[in-house]
Amino acid sequence: MPLLEVENLKVSYGDFQAVNGVSLTLDEGQTISIIGANGAGKSTLLNAISGIHGQKTGTVRFAGKDITRHRADRIARAGMTMVPEGRRLFGSLSVEENLLIGASAGRAGQWTTGAIYELFPILGELRHAVANSLSGGQQQMVAIGRALMTNPRVLLCDELSLGLAPTIINDIYRCFGAIRSTGVSIVVIEQNVTQAVAAAGYAYCLLEGQVSLEGPTDMLAMDDITAAYFGTEKTE
Ligand SMILES: Nc1ncnc2c1ncn2[C@@H]1O[C@H](COP(=O)(O)OP(=O)(O)OP(=O)(O)O)[C@@H](O)[C@H]1O
Ligand SMILES: [Mg+2]
Repeated sequence: MPLLEVENLKVSYGDFQAVNGVSLTLDEGQTISIIGANGAGKSTLLNAISGIHGQKTGTVRFAGKDITRHRADRIARAGMTMVPEGRRLFGSLSVEENLLIGASAGRAGQWTTGAIYELFPILGELRHAVANSLSGGQQQMVAIGRALMTNPRVLLCDELSLGLAPTIINDIYRCFGAIRSTGVSIVVIEQNVTQAVAAAGYAYCLLEGQVSLEGPTDMLAMDDITAAYFGTEKTE
């Protein structure tokens, strides 16, 4: 049984259907990525899975339970947490205070502030600094840390690379091995195809709210991905 199973999910904003019949599965310990261009419906899909967006049909099952109608706080307590697009930190609170917000929303487990500072040593040094004073990369680390502090079984990451320099993006994604080794399953959403393909064993490409391509990342050819990503014909 998959840990997370999404079946024919459709999500709309009023009359506009942003996600149009997406199905995907995530097994325990697996990392999958969902790639797609600006406006493809990636964040809408992730928000709907994590209980934030309400206007939806289809089914979301987590650990065998139908959670389609559950609210976000209940889903987080059950073990599925999002690192939201744009980080959404409390800018005037310290690094540590932001991390502790995650702890209060989640479950007991091995992710403590100490474990986060081991994963991202710079955050330990900056633990009393207010979030607004950090660089973009450091803020992204806090957002990941705060999500891990809920001790999730599934971590949903929305565009971790957004607005960051390539070396910083590599630093951020390097933490995935350590996170995975604790048994956490990960969904990576990215516009950055190279990063998403490198981070995951299986990828889905979204185009206008539908899956235009999916497969094991080592079986996907870059020109097929490009065609599925932009909705263009493959060049022969
Ligand atoms: N609150 C909203 N109200 C109406 N339409 C919305 C809303 N949020 C998103 N949309 C529309 O839904 C579609 C999908 O948006 P979404 O943010 O899910 O895309 P995305 O793949 O996450 O894009 P990006 O890579 O830019 O973050 C877009 O056409 C967008 O304009
Ligand atoms: Mg988005």
